[in-house]
Order: sequence, then C-alpha cells, then structure tokens
Amino acid sequence: MPDQPALPAPSTGLVPVPAAAAAGGAAPLRALDDYRRAWLAAEADPDGVWLAEARSRLAWRRPPTEGLRGSFHDISDGPIRWFADGRLNLTESCLDRHIGPRGDKTAILWEGDEPGDVRRLSYRELHALVERAAGALAALGVQKGDRVLIYMGMVPEAAAAMLACARLGAVHSVVFGGFSAESLRDRLRDSGAAVVITQDEGLRGGRAVPLKRTCDEALEGEHGVRHVLVYRRTHADVPWTPGRDVDWAEALAAAAPHEAVEVDAEDPLFILYTSGSTGRPKGLLHTTAGYLLWAAWTHETVFDLREDDVYACVADVGWVTGHSYIVYGPLCNGATTLMFESTPLHPDAGRYWDMVERHRITIFYTAPTAIRAIAAHGSAPVQRHDRSSLRVLGSVGEPISPEAWRWFYDVVGEGRCAVVDTFWQTETGGICISPLAALTPMRPGSATLPLPGLHPALMDERGRPLHGPGAGRLVFTRPWPGMARTIYGDHDRFVSTYFSMYPGCYFTGDGATRDAAGYYTITGRVDDVINVSGHRIGTAELEAALVTEPGVAEAACVGFPHALKGQGVYAYVVLREGVAADAGLADRLNAALRREIGAHARVDALQVAPGLPKTRSGKVMRRILRKIAEGETEGFGDVSTLAEPGVVGVLVAGRVRV
Ligand code: WT7
Repeated sequence: MPDQPALPAPSTGLVPVPAAAAAGGAAPLRALDDYRRAWLAAEADPDGVWLAEARSRLAWRRPPTEGLRGSFHDISDGPIRWFADGRLNLTESCLDRHIGPRGDKTAILWEGDEPGDVRRLSYRELHALVERAAGALAALGVQKGDRVLIYMGMVPEAAAAMLACARLGAVHSVVFGGFSAESLRDRLRDSGAAVVITQDEGLRGGRAVPLKRTCDEALEGEHGVRHVLVYRRTHADVPWTPGRDVDWAEALAAAAPHEAVEVDAEDPLFILYTSGSTGRPKGLLHTTAGYLLWAAWTHETVFDLREDDVYACVADVGWVTGHSYIVYGPLCNGATTLMFESTPLHPDAGRYWDMVERHRITIFYTAPTAIRAIAAHGSAPVQRHDRSSLRVLGSVGEPISPEAWRWFYDVVGEGRCAVVDTFWQTETGGICISPLAALTPMRPGSATLPLPGLHPALMDERGRPLHGPGAGRLVFTRPWPGMARTIYGDHDRFVSTYFSMYPGCYFTGDGATRDAAGYYTITGRVDDVINVSGHRIGTAELEAALVTEPGVAEAACVGFPHALKGQGVYAYVVLREGVAADAGLADRLNAALRREIGAHARVDALQVAPGLPKTRSGKVMRRILRKIAEGETEGFGDVSTLAEPGVVGVLVAGRVRV
C-alpha cells in the first residue's frame, strides 16, 4: 500500500505559509489537519467524496448517481469511468450558469504581444462568442463526436474555439502553434479531424508566426479536412482556398447562436498529443465530467482561489496547462483568467511584473524555465514593478531547483506569497502532487504532498513498493477523476505504455524521492523523454528527424542538465560512409528538427561519432550516452559485452563541452 501522507515533522527546514497567503475564514481546508482528513476521506470513500464534489461543482442535466467504474487491475478490459450515468454539457458549467451571478465579471483578460494591448471579455460576452462559434462550426457540418483541430496562438478566440467544440459535443485537439507542418499533418491524420480552426498569423515577441501558411502546408496531400476556419489576428495577406477556407468573423456573423448539446459524462472532450518513448506522439483522450471536476477542484483548492482573484497562468493553450488552468478550471470556477500572447522577455525581463502591476494579478502560475530566464536578468526588472497584489505563485512543467524556488519566493514574492510547485502531466489532467497554497508548509524544490484522491507510491528497480523515505519510480495506485481514459484509437498502447511496467499501477515515467515527512520531490523523467524548457520531447522523435538529413546514418539523443532550459538535447550522430562533417551540419540538423517537429526542438550539443555503444543484439546503451553527455569519464559499468567496446573511449575523448 502507498504510504499515507504524514504530517510534516517540525524539524525538516520547511517554509511556513506566509500570513498574507494563509487560508481565509470561509475556506473549507484551513489547516494541514484539514488536508489530512480530506485525503483520508477520499481514500476511505472515493465514490462518495467525488460524487458529492461532482454533483455540487458542475452543472448537470442529469446528475450522476455512480462514482468510479473499473480499476487499474482490469484496465486492459477497457477505460475506467467516473460518474458514467450523468449527463451534461461542459459549457453550461463554464459559461451559462455564471451569467446570473457574474455576467459582467471579466472571464478572459487578454494581454496581447505588446504591453497594454488588452481585451476583456465578460462571462456574458464569452458566452455569446462561444454560442456563435458553435453555430459557425455546426454550419460547417461539425457534429457531436467529430474531431476539430485547433492550431492557433494565444487569443481569446482559441479558448472560444475549444468551448465551441464542447458546446457541440465535438472533440477538440489543440496543437501548439510552434509545431511544424509535418507534426500538424500527423495529428490531423491520427485524429481524423474534419475541420481545422487556425488564424492568419500568431504574434510572439514582435514576430509573426505563419499559422495559416503552415496549416496549408500540412494540408497538402491526403486528409479528411473539409474546412479551415480562419481567425484574423494580424490581417496579413494569407493564401486562401475558396470553398475550403472560411473567415471566422464572417462565419460567426452569419451563424445562429447554438444551444448546448447534452452529452454523457464519459463522452470525449479533447485529444491532446504528447511525446513518449516511441517515434509516434500519443493522443491522450480526456472525457468530460471527471476531467472538468478535477481541473476545477484542483484550481480552487491548490491556488486557494477567491471570487475577486485576478488569476494568471502564462502557459499556452497548446499544452495541457493551458487546457486545465487557463481555460477549463478557471472558467468552471467563474474566475477571471488571463491569456498572455507574448513571451516573458518581450519587450524586456520585467514583462510579467509589469502585467502583475497593471492588472493587479493575485495568483501567478508559470514554469521554472521562465523563472530561470528572467532571473538571469537579475532582480532589478522585478523590483521596478509593484507586486503587492500577489498572494500565490505557482510553478509547473519541470523540477524547480531550490535556488530558482528561493528566487521566486524571495525576489518575486518578497516572502509574502505561497509558492505551489505543482506536479502533474498531460495524462493526469490536473495537479496530482502539490502544496495547497493556503496551508501546506513548503520546502524549496519539493512538490510536497499528494492531493486527496492521489495515491502515489515509489517503486524500486524490481517493481516492489518502497516504504518510508527513499528514491524510486513514481506511480499512482488508484484512479482519480481527472486522468486520461485512453490513447485515442489505441487502448492497447495506453495499457502497455502506462500499466505494464508495474501491473495495477499507473507509471508516470518520473523518478521521485520521499522524505520522512512524506514530502515528494520529483527528480525528472526516467524514460526516453527529454524535458526541454518544460516541453516533452521524445528521443525517438528527435532521432527519426535527425536521420532525415541525407548524410546521417544513425543518431542517438539524450538529455543533459542545461542552465536555462532545464535539460538540453545532446545528439550523437554517425555519418554515412564517405560523408565528412562540415561547418553547416549543425544548422542542417536543426533545420530538420524544425521541419519534422517544430522550432522548440533543437540540438544543444552535437557530437559526430564513429559509432554508438550497442549491445550485441543492437540495442543502443543510452545509459552510457547519458553519462558521457553529463561529463563522466568512467564508471560506465561492464562494457565488455558491447558489440564494439572501444567506441566508449572514443566517445568520451570526443565529448562536446556544454
Ligand atoms: C512532465 C509532464 C504538467 C503540465 C505541464 C507539463 C514534468 C511537470 C513538474 C513539477 C517536476 C514536473 C514531469 C512530468 N513535471 N510538473 N512540478 N516538478 N517535474 O506537462 O508535457 O505532460 O509533462 O513534466 O517530468 O512527467 P507534460
């Protein structure tokens, strides 16, 4: 059995919750003891606890009477289900029901690429926009169950597009605007999308992102896309295919507002692709009620959300953070949620705090990679701005070092704010391990304790659970409402990817430690996934892209510690017979990565190698490659069983300094 969260012992160097961030009088969870009781209650009666939360938090057409069906032990028989007899439409929870109590409250506070370029959409306005967008999609033939691919930048219309799909019971798949035409095409094919929603251009850091052009490129060749709906952001001249392409503004003006289509709690809401250890991205499928409940409940509980908060998550809707903590969780909770189009360094390193000052932001959720990038510019750009409105700071996406944590807490938060280091994944739908802002004593670098409903365990190399303090592989032993149900179109792959390593357990792919207080510290991926600036990239995808370069015979990529990116990509490349490395090779390899994956995939260190360390059966020994990339020169274990043991010494001698 997983170890129960213990109350932290007082002597472990914890940072107490600052008085200014402590729970208000009305909060249901006020002290660590309340948390502990809630965790034990969810353990003892998960059906009762989550059914009550689901019934009270969501707007139902038919409230559910059942909790969980299925378990991790019989996951190969089919997906788990929560609240399966309930019926609803998600947009009624996120929009319609807020119009009475908070129709004029700002739902989306949009800050464009240039500081001060601001739009505010009230709940009433967002509702009207979504009704019309749904009408426009319906006029293009979109029906319940159809897949719609969204390839947009950070504009309110991207959130409206997601919600419009949900209004119709259609399934959206948002693809991050940095992905290449090649990646977009793969996702179009896998999802079988009939309609794409895009925009003329995105705008980031003063640069135009050619979204429509990339989309057109992805649509060359075979596909099932009937229409492309184009929102005009920059009004640049873009190529147009009459009959297929439809102008967003014109279509919405012509559309009738569409009613909310009733769906089952377990009907799909979205597919989101993410990298794994094979060359093919996985389309994680999230369903409606359990996902929404989890996004909303965690958003309120972890961040200690209050009615008058100005909440800002500076992620992108192309990643799961944007789904759960810009769009669905905050809107379900009736919050004011910021959408940020730009970058942390545009026009300078003070941009976030400039926004905090102008909008009086109270909760600010970002990623360690952004914290490191800003901290590199020193504290002056932070101190130039008034941050007195801030109460809670959040971090997500990768391990945050104790130093970066301290900088966030001391310099940005002036020791007045709680810092929540939230551990979760695309697969988990929402936060799993995190302090609760109002009550959990913090420890720099630690994600601290599991939320109620989450049952973490640490496994040793042989698949046995560890007890007490230790280090191991992080699994969850029981289903929670927000988790992905399957991989779209491939349940067997879902089972083999996540449930075969430790039968009966969901394997995260991460390593973690647990201390005597029961606090978890996530140490990073233990599979063939590299976390570059908080973005997951599979080594197999990188390698497949690198070998598209004609002179490359073989490639192997591993992660290495990178001061700004968290992890960088170290690529070992073996050239074909007779091909010599030239000065342009690195550029051509990066061009291949940009073309095959997207601009966020780049080689940080390139070593041209005569061969790769392989076992006699041909398996590349990544463990050795990782050690060499990290600068180790010995301690590779027994290399005598390698097909060519000599290659290790050659690689060590030729290591590229990073
Ligand atoms: C991977 C999931 C969760 C939304 C953004 C990324 C790493 C995430 C933390 C954290 C240490 C973290 C893990 C995880 N990760 N949050 N607080 N501390 N590591 O979602 O792309 O699905 O990536 O990000 O390695 O497995 P994702």
